[in-house]
Amino acid sequence: AFDAEDAAGIIAELKHLEGPLLPILNAFQARYGFVGEDAVRLVSAALNLSRAEVYGVVSFYHDYHQAPRGRHVLKVCRAEACQARGSDAVAEAVEKALGVSFGETTPDGQVTLEAVYCLGLCASGPSAMIDHGRLVARLTPARAEALVEEVML
Ligand code: FES
Repeated sequence: AFDAEDAAGIIAELKHLEGPLLPILNAFQARYGFVGEDAVRLVSAALNLSRAEVYGVVSFYHDYHQAPRGRHVLKVCRAEACQARGSDAVAEAVEKALGVSFGETTPDGQVTLEAVYCLGLCASGPSAMIDHGRLVARLTPARAEALVEEVML
């Protein structure tokens, strides 16, 4: 979990670097798994940047998450080829089954739903990925629901 005192220690350690913002954000992401509001406030104060500036950087880089992620991450491909093969219906079924929208985490902290733009399986889409690298192809809304049930366990 995020700890302000610990975070202040990280800032103190890296602040003297030239261009300290990214190293600090990287350290936060690695340590806490996300760069949230409290972290942004601390960094902006320490580096004399506006919060908007820091937010801009955090939201620009996809490696930074602004909220803690769930135990599992389900990424549904929303790029064109999958869309042409019916990924919109799959995405809708997944949102409904999880009860969250893209970018959100289920209230029990179990699953984060994210969009991804191409998983390299375009010919057999709609596709999705669970956690780090388990790929699923040829999804239908029904198969997607079964998949959600499995990750919710
Ligand atoms: Fe979905 Fe390529 S567009 S895998």
